[in-house]
Amino acid sequence: MASRGTILLTGGAGFIGSHVAVEVAAAGWTPVILDNFCTSERSVVERVGELLGSPVRCIGADIRDAQAMHAALGSISAHAVIHLAGLKAVGESVEKPELYQDNNVRGTEVLLAAMDRFGVRRMVFSSSCTVYGTPQRLPIDESHPLSAINPYGQTKLDIERMLDRWVDAGPDRHVCSLRYFNPVGAHASALIGESPLGIPNNLMPFVVKVARGELPELGVFGGDWPTPDGTGVRDYIHVVDLARGHVAALERLDSMHHERINLGTGVGASVLEVVHAFERVNGVKVPYAIRPRRAGDAAAAYADPSLADRRLGWRARLGLDEMVRDAWAFANRCG
Ligand code: NAD
Ligand code: WQD
Repeated sequence: MASRGTILLTGGAGFIGSHVAVEVAAAGWTPVILDNFCTSERSVVERVGELLGSPVRCIGADIRDAQAMHAALGSISAHAVIHLAGLKAVGESVEKPELYQDNNVRGTEVLLAAMDRFGVRRMVFSSSCTVYGTPQRLPIDESHPLSAINPYGQTKLDIERMLDRWVDAGPDRHVCSLRYFNPVGAHASALIGESPLGIPNNLMPFVVKVARGELPELGVFGGDWPTPDGTGVRDYIHVVDLARGHVAALERLDSMHHERINLGTGVGASVLEVVHAFERVNGVKVPYAIRPRRAGDAAAAYADPSLADRRLGWRARLGLDEMVRDAWAFANRCG
């Protein structure tokens, strides 16, 4: 089948980008990955190729490097860019706010300038539910007030505003900022998934390491939240559902100026629900202990995903059982 066109995936070797590459290819587009491998490994690109049955083109480059970005965009004729490259560790962003501004915000500026030079006018951007700050009401729809509660969140707000200016600065430009809730899980093949460097910050990779015996127990951050079982509630979304959402956005980009759309399931799960689902589905033990609340956390956050249904014709299909099953299978095969 002839390709429908080339899609450049910045950060395409990462957890989410690798799954997006697979879904983009399945929809008939040709993905090209661009990554500097600061938080990912080159072997991921090979595994995406293995999954697709043919190698995927990969450009090793930093989005902040204008020359490299010009060379990259000049060497392909990109229909659109899916911009996933970014640093995402909240704690690290508090320690190194300048690094986050430089990598995420300035990096996006350089990328947009290169797109301008080569006439690429479509972008799907990896935004985050972090732009809503501490939830004021639930579920969280796209009109919820915005605020940054850490430097990482500030970068997502800054980039969304930069994209507002960019779509207004020239004719026929189209952007969809997808505000992800909590992506977890892995591809059903167990060839690609989430493998953060060092001790994980996020719940699911931490649970996986405890289940494998690599860490002694999970610290549950707070057992006295105003939630049904006292532990924090989040909207976990399977990474394959999330990746499908990017294809849906890509297909409808030309009807958009700059739209912001939540990608979540609309269903909240508590920390203990995640732990118990993990134990039940995978037949393993996840020892845990209740610890003090983590600074900056909220009791509960979950999406109103109805705009994604209306605008993209997209809904999450996979539930918590599939998320914990696939995260575990990946950890045991490739993690
Ligand atoms: P990840 O760390 O696995 O992937 C990010 C990728 O971007 C990595 O491969 C990294 O090497 C690359 N990268 C970073 N800076 C780069 C640069 N300057 N030039 C080129 N490549 C660079 O993270 P992920 O979970 O796949 O996240 C992808 C995007 O989604 C990020 O922008 C993140 O902020 C956003 N996001 C993630 C989550 C989440 O919980 N995973 C939630 C909301 C939004
Ligand atoms: C989930 C729940 C914790 C670890 C983060 C980013 C956010 C967005 C999504 C990128 C909470 C609890 C966690 C642990 C625990 N990412 N927990 N023990 O905080 O909802 O959001 O990822 O844009 O910006 O902040 O996700 O996975 O860290 O935590 O009890 O060891 O698990 O308190 O209730 P979070 P998380």
